[in-house]
Amino acid sequence: MIANPHGMVEPSAPAMHPCAPTSTRAWRAWRALRTRGARYVWHKTLRRLPGLDPLRRRQWLYADPRAYWTLRGGDEYFSEQEGQPARTDRIIWIADRIASRQPRSVLEVGCGYGKVLRLLRERLGPDVPLVGVDFSASQLEVARRHLAGLSGITLAHASGARLPFPDDAFDLVLTSAVILHNPPVVADAIRREVVRVSSRLAAHNEDTDVSYNRFGYDTAAWYRDRALPVLESGPIPCGDAAARAASQFCVAGPWRA
Ligand SMILES: C[S@@+](CC[C@H](N)C(=O)[O-])C[C@H]1O[C@@H](n2cnc3c(N)ncnc32)[C@H](O)[C@@H]1O
Repeated sequence: MIANPHGMVEPSAPAMHPCAPTSTRAWRAWRALRTRGARYVWHKTLRRLPGLDPLRRRQWLYADPRAYWTLRGGDEYFSEQEGQPARTDRIIWIADRIASRQPRSVLEVGCGYGKVLRLLRERLGPDVPLVGVDFSASQLEVARRHLAGLSGITLAHASGARLPFPDDAFDLVLTSAVILHNPPVVADAIRREVVRVSSRLAAHNEDTDVSYNRFGYDTAAWYRDRALPVLESGPIPCGDAAARAASQFCVAGPWRA
């Protein structure tokens, strides 16, 4: 039995239902079908199908990023991500970099299940409001559980391309692995929204490599091309050589404040 961080026990062997299949793989598929439905199982099968051309996988699986992330979010995604120590190292490094800028308030666009917000809460004073938005209801549902009991964190369901906040609403606005998951027009809209609602700084953890669900952008170059100041930009010193080479962390600003 595996207990995930929400205290939910995930059976690793068939034993609970008289109709349950006998192999572990079949058991997982059967459980996924019962709990998340046929679309989820089809989505997972397409994600894992070996040998599928990335462009074809993008067409079939990633035509609608919001639908993709709504299916992708949930306890299984949480367990997969939390099972990657290199990812945790990277997010700790990012949270430390952001905390070193001493933000007075933070908005995270595309907060997922709240991994970065949780680490920021540990590093920033209780008087620093933290807000997370995401367009995936399933990610937000897990975030609400993952962040339960932590004070000063607000979550909202919203698109990064149309943020429900006034101009200059936050001292620092962050994206972590979000812009890269959006096609160019939407990616551009998110960056413009980040600059609009940030009064001082924008921080980005956005990889530059391309896959079926990644578009890969040089975010620091976007700011430089618009003559906006870039305080720091470079690879993230975590993970293997390939991960480091594809990574980029940048902080842009300060501007209005
Ligand atoms: C790879 S996860 C990263 C989550 C979190 N930022 C982190 O670093 O742990 C990408 C998240 O961005 C969200 N997302 C992607 N595009 C978005 C958009 N246009 N508007 C709002 N959320 C978006 C997805 O729903 C997903 O939760």
